[in-house]
Amino acid sequence: MKNILFIALISLIAFTGCNKPNPVKTIENLKAGIKGETTASAKYAAFAQKASEEGNANIAKLFAAASKAESIHAANHKKVLEGLGLKMDDFTPEFEVKTTAENLQAAIEGESYEVATMYPQFLADAKAEKVGKAETSFNWAFDTEKKHKEFYFKALQALNASAQNTLPVEYAVCPVCGNTYDNAMVDEKCAFCKTGKEKFIIV
Ligand SMILES: [Fe+2]
Ligand SMILES: [Fe+2]
Repeated sequence: MKNILFIALISLIAFTGCNKPNPVKTIENLKAGIKGETTASAKYAAFAQKASEEGNANIAKLFAAASKAESIHAANHKKVLEGLGLKMDDFTPEFEVKTTAENLQAAIEGESYEVATMYPQFLADAKAEKVGKAETSFNWAFDTEKKHKEFYFKALQALNASAQNTLPVEYAVCPVCGNTYDNAMVDEKCAFCKTGKEKFIIV
């Protein structure tokens, strides 16, 4: 009788173990996030090169800073995915480089999608599936993209008004969360993750 009870208990433990909730949506979202952020990083690096060629040095700096921030977001999402015991599939970033005005417009559209649609959904899924580390990583990206959108919008306005000299000349990027500042207006500690400003990457 004892043996039967013991076997029943072991079976129950094994069964419960197998049924541990699998954060299916968050895993897919992390993969989509890594792809999106990696592509954005490569795209903005190419846009920076183009802006530089067109003589828009300040806008080139903005694209370079955002490129750095997106690579930090991709790395953070990747760490969370690997923490769940999974690896990212191989992919090749695909994007088009046009004029700087068009590139800024494309950047505004990309950031708008992430801010209005993508990250709110990812955050809701991560919360529902209780993946706290994914929530943190998505939140850092979400909050940064809102700032990128604003920076790009102002850059496009300045470009259209031939007033590029009014734009920031240097940016600071938080190495932990990707938060992006006009380097003339940084906080003592990152507003998102509290990293000290002495650690910021100057672009
Ligand atoms: Fe961004
Ligand atoms: Fe930060």
